[in-house]
Amino acid sequence: MGARKVLIDTDTASDDAVAIIMALRSPLIEVVAITVVAGNVEVEQATRNALLAAELCNSDIPVFAGSARPLERKLETADWFHGVDGLGDHGYAPQHRRASAGHAVDAIIASALEYPGLEIVTLGPLTNLAVALAREPRIAENISRCVIMGGAPCCEGNVTPAAEFNMWVDPEAARKVFLSRLMKEMVGWQLSRFAAVVNEREIAAIEKLGNPLSEFAVRCNSRAAAAYHEQTGEIGISLPDPIAMAVLLDPALSLNSSQHFIEVETGSDLTRGMTVVDRLNVGRDPRNREVWGEAMQNSKTKICWTLDVEGWKAALMRALTI
Ligand code: BDR
Ligand code: CA
Repeated sequence: MGARKVLIDTDTASDDAVAIIMALRSPLIEVVAITVVAGNVEVEQATRNALLAAELCNSDIPVFAGSARPLERKLETADWFHGVDGLGDHGYAPQHRRASAGHAVDAIIASALEYPGLEIVTLGPLTNLAVALAREPRIAENISRCVIMGGAPCCEGNVTPAAEFNMWVDPEAARKVFLSRLMKEMVGWQLSRFAAVVNEREIAAIEKLGNPLSEFAVRCNSRAAAAYHEQTGEIGISLPDPIAMAVLLDPALSLNSSQHFIEVETGSDLTRGMTVVDRLNVGRDPRNREVWGEAMQNSKTKICWTLDVEGWKAALMRALTI
């Protein structure tokens, strides 16, 4: 049996870069393409960052630049969290690699048609994927699994009290993806908090590995660690995208999950990008039909509620050990 084929869609900043490293170093999968979307930083910068992460892994995987802005809104970046270059502003740049010709959306469509059973992991706003699904709906059947880093199911957001960054940046795209027939799995932001944060002792252990990947993984997240501390009071490096990647690589790291319909708020300023989970299946109730009818016609999303924290950290250490 050939290796599982995976496509990574990313708005590459510091935690995305670590997730890319995990994927490229894993013996379990073959990454067929990296597609880039605007989000944490402008798409050009995100593309350079993805190329750098691939270069650090000595990988010549094709990297395609994609959507430069959300479907209907202006782009709001997260330089306040990841730094102006998305990698903590240490002056990183790829030395040799350049982006591949072609658009990320075409690369998603072509990969899904070429590799039935393809798995996709999204680490940024869902703009590229929403456009790809609209342009070629057949890809939904070919994608066996779509692991989505994003959302704040039944809990607080990190950009507004209601919404997580990837959903908030392009809520229209998120809504299109959640209301599609894709086999979706949600790895929400809350899973990267508290015990899942890479703490000071673990950072020291990573630094002790003493190789270019381990050094990069810690250093490029310096700004993000400071911003996370400011935001939550927690100390350490919170890594939402690498956690989603760890769950993609090993689904058993999701200890507790359940399937639900999800709607995404696009109308309200207060709750823009909120991922509303129908946890009790009340969307079927006739009084909810008008609002929930469309969601009910599509597939449910598997929501990961509990993460195997030790397993996730072991996966991270493995990826950074050369
Ligand atoms: C998500 O937003 C970005 O800041 C991270 O890269 C991650 O994808 C967390 O909310
Ligand atoms: Ca990201």
